[in-house]
Amino acid sequence: MTTAVCPGSFDPITLGHLDIVRRAATMFDDVVVGVAKNPGKSGLLDLETRAELVRAAVHSGAQTDPALSQVRVAVVPGLLVDFCREVGAVAVVKGLRGGGDFDAEQPMALMNRHLSGVETIFLPGDQKYAHVASSLVKDIARHGGPVDDLVPAGVTAALRAALGQPAAGS
Ligand code: PNS
Repeated sequence: MTTAVCPGSFDPITLGHLDIVRRAATMFDDVVVGVAKNPGKSGLLDLETRAELVRAAVHSGAQTDPALSQVRVAVVPGLLVDFCREVGAVAVVKGLRGGGDFDAEQPMALMNRHLSGVETIFLPGDQKYAHVASSLVKDIARHGGPVDDLVPAGVTAALRAALGQPAAGS
């Protein structure tokens, strides 16, 4: 059985992330989404909340896409390479929206291979999500803008709660 890890900060998960997880799940027997801290980014949601939102998105996506039913979600407590070893992953799968993403991801991919030999596979992000980034979603939400069509169900409410905004319809 071949296992892959889809790591990320998922603060919050977007439809672009979910598309990459779904595509990874068609390539590997087992996919574990690893929710991790990126020291270069200031977080809004706590790690457990992010993981819960990813779990809910995967669970609801599995109703229409069976590939998602074999996807697990866990928090990465330390180094990604240690997590990969623990779950027996042969590869890390990451999505790239463009050259900027590659510039950020390449050093991590090389460092992870240096540390443990784990390889990283890059999947080109679907063009329809090329503009979708967690940082933009948070910025729009902070200003009360609409993000419902950029993120899985439940994420908007979690963002509002974290931002201290009233729930929709209240
Ligand atoms: O979604 P992101 O922010 O691009 O994901 C980056 C992430 C969280 C996968 C990366 O920061 C990470 O792997 N963090 C866990 C700690 C770790 O292993 N750091 C060394 C990376 S070479």
